[in-house]
Amino acid sequence: MKKIIALATLLAVGAGRLFAQELLNFNVQLDKPTGKISPHMWGVFFEDINLGADGGIYAELVKNRSFEFDNPWMGWKKLQEVPEGSMLIVNDNKRKGNARSLKINKPDAIAMGLQNEGFRGMGVRQGESYVFSLLYKQLTPGLSLSVELLDENDKLIGKSSLSLDAGETGWQSAEVKFTAAETTAKAKLNVWIEGTGVAELDMLSLFPTATWKNRPKGLRKDMVQILADMKPGFIRFPGGCIVEGRDLANRFQWKKTVGPIEQRELIINRWNTEFKNRLTPDYFQTFGLGFYEYFLLAEDIGAEAVPILNCGMACQFNTGEVVPMEELDTYIQDALDLIEFANGDSQTAWGKLRAEMGHPAPFNLKMLGVGNENWGPQYVERLAAFKKVLKEKHPEIAIIASSGTDPEGDRFAFLDERLRGMDIDIIDEHYYRPPSWFLSGAARYDDYDRNGSKIFAGEYASHTTRPNGPGRSTWEAALSEAAFLTGLERNGDVVQMASYAPLFGHVDGWQWSPDLIWVDNLQVYGTPSYQVQKLYALNKGTDIIPITRNQANVTGQDSVYASTVYDEQTKELIIKFINYNDKPVDASIDITSKRKISGAATKIVLANADLHIANSLEEPLAIQPKQQTATYKGKTIKESFPPYSFTVIKLPVK
Ligand code: AHR
Repeated sequence: MKKIIALATLLAVGAGRLFAQELLNFNVQLDKPTGKISPHMWGVFFEDINLGADGGIYAELVKNRSFEFDNPWMGWKKLQEVPEGSMLIVNDNKRKGNARSLKINKPDAIAMGLQNEGFRGMGVRQGESYVFSLLYKQLTPGLSLSVELLDENDKLIGKSSLSLDAGETGWQSAEVKFTAAETTAKAKLNVWIEGTGVAELDMLSLFPTATWKNRPKGLRKDMVQILADMKPGFIRFPGGCIVEGRDLANRFQWKKTVGPIEQRELIINRWNTEFKNRLTPDYFQTFGLGFYEYFLLAEDIGAEAVPILNCGMACQFNTGEVVPMEELDTYIQDALDLIEFANGDSQTAWGKLRAEMGHPAPFNLKMLGVGNENWGPQYVERLAAFKKVLKEKHPEIAIIASSGTDPEGDRFAFLDERLRGMDIDIIDEHYYRPPSWFLSGAARYDDYDRNGSKIFAGEYASHTTRPNGPGRSTWEAALSEAAFLTGLERNGDVVQMASYAPLFGHVDGWQWSPDLIWVDNLQVYGTPSYQVQKLYALNKGTDIIPITRNQANVTGQDSVYASTVYDEQTKELIIKFINYNDKPVDASIDITSKRKISGAATKIVLANADLHIANSLEEPLAIQPKQQTATYKGKTIKESFPPYSFTVIKLPVK
């Protein structure tokens, strides 16, 4: 009996708490838009960090295919002792961008072999086909090759052979296709050299045939697809600090990343040695994914291409080298030539190269970043020189300039003032901060100048463990970002672009965490932050609509955040609502409008009462959106928003 009374009391208390909960009232002024949402508002930031390009989206499976890494044997091992002088690394400076090759001198018929370990193994799938290719030069004809794919236990899972054309001298190419009999993330490749003869071998390469759009030697399908699924408005590339380089010699030079792949001169990836606790000695940039491929990727996924160029300064966290002002012209010329490469017709020198590479039509570049995270008067001076020339020759191109590493403080204040004084089109703000910063910053842009420079939130992420270590992309991080992004959306007339950073992390080869999307050699999953980004990008709307509570913007009062847009294409009112409480929030949202709300409404909910939950390779969709029907009466929505939730409500407007 006692038990029954206790249970009844508990139910009564529980029910009482629910009923007693305050109903929060909101108002949406549908007929009073305050501005336009930029069509490329929500985008992605791509940098070759964490094996993002080489070992990641660039589908090459062979590491150090051209023997150009500092140690030419890195990634390779000989499969047996070979006679002295029979396998030599030749360094021929006459070969532009690719001086080294492997010279085989084989006087007897005993097979010689070498093995490539791939990027933390090679991801191959049962039943899929793979293309092995190489460049070779016959000196004494008579050699042939056979290739084998092995799994992690050395079991043979694919095999083929090819003979080297005996008739030709000079460099030529050959390739052979074969099928993998097993799925494994850790395959390796054996290359056996048979017969007798002398030849030089180079660009030993293995690609899946099933790449994105089945382009030969293309990109990893699943990694591009997860980007395409977000419908990003833009793609910023190639970074990030990689633009700057540790020193100027190590900077990203776009011209060295276009043209024939075998002539693209590789450099050490600056993330190779950046973090002592995450050393990645085998990380190089081969530039198989170069500027042409970046533009193509942008076009494929319907995103604006947003290249960022070096401004004559190396990374200020490293050497901070600057080029003397009188030598800056080369850097400015790179920018002018890039515009020609992207937009020039095929009669122009760089437009011709683009056409020869397979894209006669222009890429229609509209924006260009000058400098990544640069700061100080030395940056302002260099930026001014770029601006003078670019605005004179290409007033149609919007210039993006950096406001440094932090979203506040002296460095930021100095740059913000100078950049606005220079009338820079778009200022690139970066913030890697704890969740509390994102939660308290939802009103950050409410007071920004409406008529001055526009804002690009070019790199940001909520770091739950900052500053003490690498972060996990938890639901806490993602929900705090979702709350902050209401402020970007509400101020979409000023904040015109935003991208989380970094984009990709390889579970076996990362340097920086958290990241938006994680991969191994076979799989890919989006973090809770990815799910948040995707919801914003897929529901970006066209017009900013005010939503208020007690006549004030909804920026965290009672831990509730909201923003609203109207989509003139789909004719929907889209409400984004974040409940950052550990209990439900009951809300009544009144829509003031001359128009009617009529037809089926939906709500998409991302929610979890546990803020520490995260997605993983094992459980990629622990946090995922759930779509349901939304209800409303007349022009009022009554909704109970679950604890720790991000809800998108879509209402048809007549
Ligand atoms: O996103 C990782 C790094 O963070 C970027 O390369 C750099 O711009 C910033 O410091």
